[in-house]
Amino acid sequence: MQRLYRKRIVLGVGGGIAAYKSAELVRRLRDHGAEVRVVMTQGGREFITPLTLQALSGHPVHLDLLDPAAEAAMGHIELARWADLVLIAPATADLMARLAQGVANDLLTTVVLATNTPVALAPAMNQAMWADPATQANRELLLKRGIRLFGPGSGSQACGDVGMGRMLEADELAQAAADCFATGLLTGKHLLITAGPTQENIDPVRYITNHSSGKMGFALAEAAAEAGARVTLVTGPVFLPTPDRVQRIDVVSARDMLAACEAAMPCDILVAAAAVADYRPEVVAPHKLKKDPTTGDGLLLQMVRNPDILATLASRTDRPFCVGFAAETENLLEYATRKLRDKNLDLIVANDVANPSIGFNSEDNAVSVIDRQQHETRFGQASKGHIARALVAFIADRYKES
Ligand code: PMT
Repeated sequence: MQRLYRKRIVLGVGGGIAAYKSAELVRRLRDHGAEVRVVMTQGGREFITPLTLQALSGHPVHLDLLDPAAEAAMGHIELARWADLVLIAPATADLMARLAQGVANDLLTTVVLATNTPVALAPAMNQAMWADPATQANRELLLKRGIRLFGPGSGSQACGDVGMGRMLEADELAQAAADCFATGLLTGKHLLITAGPTQENIDPVRYITNHSSGKMGFALAEAAAEAGARVTLVTGPVFLPTPDRVQRIDVVSARDMLAACEAAMPCDILVAAAAVADYRPEVVAPHKLKKDPTTGDGLLLQMVRNPDILATLASRTDRPFCVGFAAETENLLEYATRKLRDKNLDLIVANDVANPSIGFNSEDNAVSVIDRQQHETRFGQASKGHIARALVAFIADRYKES
């Protein structure tokens, strides 16, 4: 279940006897590489102790909405943004009713309202409560709003009844959580993604580069692979593991990156998230440059333009659907729109890198996508993993319409 690897899951534990299975669920999710933060309702705490879930998840359990210490560490909005998936197991009839009504009277329901990320519930209750028209109406409403339901299953219940309402087992829930990250939207398509910075040598020990960590490009590669695409990831020097099912090609300079991209063609969709150096030193000194007393304190480097990888691929006869990124510190939409036009792109993702909590080397991002009609679609602040999945779904839709 590689699809859970490095996924961030907020596990909400409601007040039902099935809460004992949540302990096993935390273990299963972590066994598959997910990072888990547990949020418990007051009822959940009556059935299983926060200490158990803290020990198993490796993080303090989040309990109260109005706890200044907890809010200072990771508050409800941060938890909501951090998550790639909010999974509530067990979800009691009461919790389902509160969520259906949009009530936010504790930490867990508040996180659900505040998140942009997928939410899944594992219902657990007595069979008569599950069959009750009120619960069924809430179920309908939640499904209509895009909330997923895992189960319930059928069988003998803690109260002695037999019927629908049993919470699924930990393995089944971990599998269902993994399935949330596989969309099949791009099955059969080849995506070429650039990521990270480039390095342009000055001499054998020095180079010019930028702050790109590769996180955004790698998250896109992972999301595209989850969506069923064959993914080639051409990356500058970064310290990130290769996502599962992604073919990675490591390069150093802009010219290397162009050559690797050309070799990887043809592709159906190109997503250029790399921060490519626009210029390189005209001459790379064969030996380490020495301080030159004749030039005083200055050093003049003659720079020349690098090839534009995205514009080059967008001008080919076998041109793919082209998605660029624009990292800007001012006039974001204006500059991004200009790049869309100048480079002949289908979409451009505008990234405000003046804000340090989004953009270069941050965990989160927030972007606007602009199309050829200059229509703007916003994606609010969330983890790069979440933004990547939303962008991949958006790009897949636009690609299909093109
Ligand atoms: O890597 P992270 O730390 O996660 O940060 C992510 C990011 C901020 C690097 C990323 O989200 C982003 O915005 N990437 C584009 C950065 C950029 O410098 O863009 P640009 O405005 O210089 O270039 C516009 C587009 O042309 C980009 O798609 C770029 O990849 C491409 N380009 C630019 C120059 C060049 N010589 N060749 C190119 O292909």
